Amino acid sequence: KTYNVAVLVGSLRKASINRKLALALADLAPASLNLEILEIGDLPLYNEDADGDSAPASYAPFRSKLKAADAVLFVTPEYNRSIPGAMKNAIDVGSRPYGQSGFSGKPGAVLSASPGAIGGFGANHHLRQCLVFLDVHVLQQPEAYLGGAGNFFDENGVLSDGIKPFLQKFIDAYAAWVAKHLG
Ligand code: FNR
Repeated sequence: KTYNVAVLVGSLRKASINRKLALALADLAPASLNLEILEIGDLPLYNEDADGDSAPASYAPFRSKLKAADAVLFVTPEYNRSIPGAMKNAIDVGSRPYGQSGFSGKPGAVLSASPGAIGGFGANHHLRQCLVFLDVHVLQQPEAYLGGAGNFFDENGVLSDGIKPFLQKFIDAYAAWVAKHLG
């Protein structure tokens, strides 16, 4: 069986290391996982007044793709020791309208990466706080706080041999976690 995984990337910039990591994970994933990035950059800021019928047009396709996914994977940088606003907004949009969250009960995982030494630990755990409330069942091990991420890809975008084994271990553990939940 193949499980569809919605991947939320916390950086919107073209050259994002985190986006490259998400794509690398999609390549390394075993056949049981089909990873697809759900774009979050065109979601206007969530406003509860404008939910339901008057919601921004980009919300419906985002929400339906999220709902259709079997599992969710978050790949994010750290902004000011927390998650980027774009990521939090996507979480808020995907969790509403009330009672119609696209996250509930799904197996999830969080990977954070930064050129800095701490590897986005603060963002990773702020995100996990949201995921407790959203009832996303998050993979615990291996933890993925990837520091020194400025060296993960060369100028041609090729993944370094240094980090590849960890990414393989992470995505294999996540595949086993998803299968355990849904299999
Ligand atoms: C950062 N950066 C950063 N890095 C970090 O390790 N901890 C932090 O708290 C912050 N804060 C922060 C705030 C803002 C507004 C920006 C723009 C950047 C640096 C960040 O890790 C770096 O730009 C990454 O390369 C961003 O990830 P992407 O875009 O390469 O995926």
